[in-house]
Amino acid sequence: MHQEIGSFQKKASTTNQIPPGMMKLIFLTIVVSFVSAEKVFNLSFCKLKKEDFFMKKQLHINLHEVTDLILRGNEFDSFLDCSTNLENLRTLDLSQNHLQRFFFLCKEEYNLQMLNVSHNKLEYIDDNALNDRIPRLKILDLSFNKLTIVNETMLQYLTILEYLSLSHNPIRDGIHESAFWNLRALKHLDLKNISAPYFSSGFFKTLTNLSTLDLSWNPIDTIPLLPISLQELDLSGTQVISLENFYLPQLQELKLNYMPNLTSLVLNDLENLTSLEMLSMIGCKRLIQLSLWPQLGIVLPRLQRLSIKECGLETLNNELHALVQRIPVIELENNPWRCDCKLEWINLLNSTRNLSRNIRCYAPERHHAKLLAEIPNYELQCEYDSSIFYPILWTCLSLLIVSLIIAMVLVFLKRPISQWSFKGRNGDTVTYKNVVESNNDLVRILAVSEAHERNEE
Ligand SMILES: *[C@@H]1O[C@H](CO)[C@@H](O)[C@H](O)[C@H]1NC(C)=O
Ligand SMILES: *[C@@H]1O[C@H](CO)[C@@H](O)[C@H](O)[C@H]1NC(C)=O
Ligand SMILES: *[C@@H]1O[C@H](CO)[C@@H](O)[C@H](O)[C@H]1NC(C)=O
Ligand SMILES: *[C@@H]1O[C@H](CO)[C@@H](O)[C@H](O)[C@H]1NC(C)=O
Ligand SMILES: *[C@@H]1O[C@H](CO)[C@@H](O)[C@H](O)[C@H]1NC(C)=O
Ligand SMILES: *[C@@H]1O[C@H](CO)[C@@H](O)[C@H](O)[C@H]1NC(C)=O
Repeated sequence: MHQEIGSFQKKASTTNQIPPGMMKLIFLTIVVSFVSAEKVFNLSFCKLKKEDFFMKKQLHINLHEVTDLILRGNEFDSFLDCSTNLENLRTLDLSQNHLQRFFFLCKEEYNLQMLNVSHNKLEYIDDNALNDRIPRLKILDLSFNKLTIVNETMLQYLTILEYLSLSHNPIRDGIHESAFWNLRALKHLDLKNISAPYFSSGFFKTLTNLSTLDLSWNPIDTIPLLPISLQELDLSGTQVISLENFYLPQLQELKLNYMPNLTSLVLNDLENLTSLEMLSMIGCKRLIQLSLWPQLGIVLPRLQRLSIKECGLETLNNELHALVQRIPVIELENNPWRCDCKLEWINLLNSTRNLSRNIRCYAPERHHAKLLAEIPNYELQCEYDSSIFYPILWTCLSLLIVSLIIAMVLVFLKRPISQWSFKGRNGDTVTYKNVVESNNDLVRILAVSEAHERNEE
């Protein structure tokens, strides 16, 4: 501590003229003392080091009266409550500093309700940081730090916490199974981009009040067990492939944006999301199929907004007709739409939303870049599609061959063996010749069976 103060003084004395930063400080001090009547002390972006604040700033202000202390965007590398008097403090914003540690050590109990230490350099949370001295904490922002572990004791005292963000920390699998268990009042949990490969099924089991959960941009491939109280869920940027068995009856908003592994979505899988109002799938480049099987009861009865932009959809099947007609807002821009007979039903939709003005054709060539709405229906023809035709043709042919073989076997099995071999050899010369000449399975089989038919006569 002494060394640090020394270095601060030395630095101050070497800068003889008043630098612009200092000018700003002086100006801000005036503003601040004026504002302090409202008990808000705002010193954001002043290039303050902790020594500047604790040794100088706080001499000019009655810190013990301050309720909101905003120290955002300064150069604190640690924060220790013992150096100051924060009796009435409710909000402490230390975001965008260089914090490696912070402590609440000196007073029995604080009134602190909101602590923002996001965008700092915290690698771990000391036992004396989030302790029983701040039992009123409701909002805690730990995002954009370097935390690798959330152990079972780190958050244990925060029993009335409502908002927690741990987003953008390299936590990976460092969350202890019971890390969140005491956070029974939690409503909002942000775990975006924490490199978590999975979320254990026990993580959220006591969070019965959770309404907003962000699990986006984590390399998870399955959806974990989630609290059924959820109203908003973000799974964007995850590697989830299937959304089956998803039971969240209170969910209102679901974000599935930029999901690289999602290739098809059967909307029936979302049948248990009966309160869903907003479904967003933006930038799912490999999403090529959206389907809805006929079923009893309405799928997504409350849906108000469906966004499927910048995905890989070429067409929409008519089976979506009723759904599309029902949803007030649908966004379908920037998909590689193929404007042919399969999309005709959208053009015929009687809707004031002009869905077809949303659809800009990508293919076929002659309709490229046109709006679907601009193309008269008689021009929406389906082209002879070789990519589908040939597989169908070959499937039919092989089915034919297989059934012929089966028929043959059945015919042979019905005869006594001796009779078969005698007559078979008789016809053999004819058949063999045909095989060599045609070199074609179908012909060989036809020939064989023909031969046998002849033998039978
Ligand atoms: C915390 O501060 C950061 C940056 O200063 C800000 O973006 C964020 O919204 C704040 N968090 C809360 C919960 O207000
Ligand atoms: C949790 O982590 C903190 C900080 O790293 C450590 O002091 C504490 O002992 C850990 N608790 C347990 C139960 O491991
Ligand atoms: C996730 O965090 C990493 C750094 O930890 C960053 O490079 C990346 O851009 C973040 N991704 C998103 C989608 O925010
Ligand atoms: C998702 O796709 C990426 C490549 O696009 C692949 O590396 C990854 O293994 C896939 N994940 C799953 C769960 O299939
Ligand atoms: C189309 O909408 C108009 C006005 O909403 C309505 O009068 C008409 O009957 C509708 N036609 C069809 C085919 O649904
Ligand atoms: C839909 O199209 C009609 C006629 O083309 C136009 O009058 C109306 O304003 C459009 N509505 C919207 C919401 O774009």
